[in-house]
Amino acid sequence: MISPSEKLPLSIQPDQLLIRRMRDADVPGIMEIESVSFGSHHWSEESFINEMKNYLARYYSLVDKRDSRLIGYCGFWAVFDEAHVTTVAVRPEYRRNALGEVQLIHMMDQCMGQTIRWMTLEVRTSNYGAQNLYYKYGFSSAGTRPKYYQDNEEDALIMTTPDINSEPYRKLYRKNKEALIDRIGGFPEGMGS
Ligand SMILES: CC(C)(COP(=O)(O)OP(=O)(O)OC[C@H]1O[C@@H](n2cnc3c(N)ncnc32)[C@H](O)[C@@H]1OP(=O)(O)O)[C@@H](O)C(=O)NCCC(=O)NCCS
Repeated sequence: MISPSEKLPLSIQPDQLLIRRMRDADVPGIMEIESVSFGSHHWSEESFINEMKNYLARYYSLVDKRDSRLIGYCGFWAVFDEAHVTTVAVRPEYRRNALGEVQLIHMMDQCMGQTIRWMTLEVRTSNYGAQNLYYKYGFSSAGTRPKYYQDNEEDALIMTTPDINSEPYRKLYRKNKEALIDRIGGFPEGMGS
């Protein structure tokens, strides 16, 4: 186990972070991250406000507890036995510090033990960083949606997990989660709740 001072080249530690349900007041911070993360294809303020009212959807914000600054956000729709991840993003200066992974784990924790068995999503075929995150958590390619992204007519890769309640999947999930705790020393407040 590494010592707290050696953990990550990041000015923020997991115990300084909180993950909680997204609020209307988060939208200005979300829009800052959206525009630099998704270019002209990004969602509008109205989309987020409406999504928060969608009873099938669950959205979460990752915030710095010290000043309430929004660091990331994520969300999914839960429909019958499937959770469809609609968004996950991290403020650019905090990327490659496991915070995308932390948010994916948080969503998975919400889905496990419920009726949900599969998680799915779409990702740009050129977005290898995000794809690597999903591959790490057992997603695999299930086809493409041609010209899904209207800004540049890029194809979407459809990715899906195996049954997240199956023992082989749980084994992979526990292994990744334990390795991550060892690496970053803990999880933000609110994880799993
Ligand atoms: C995708 C995104 C959320 C990843 O967040 P992050 O905090 O930078 O990623 P993490 O540090 O948690 O990385 C977790 C894993 O993802 C993969 N990964 C993430 N970024 C990567 C990159 N730039 N290159 C290669 N692999 C990457 C790695 O497998 C990594 O595991 P490792 O640390 O063991 O190598 C972030 O890059 C982002 O906000 N991108 C813009 C929005 C976006 O594209 N969202 C996905 C839409 S489908």
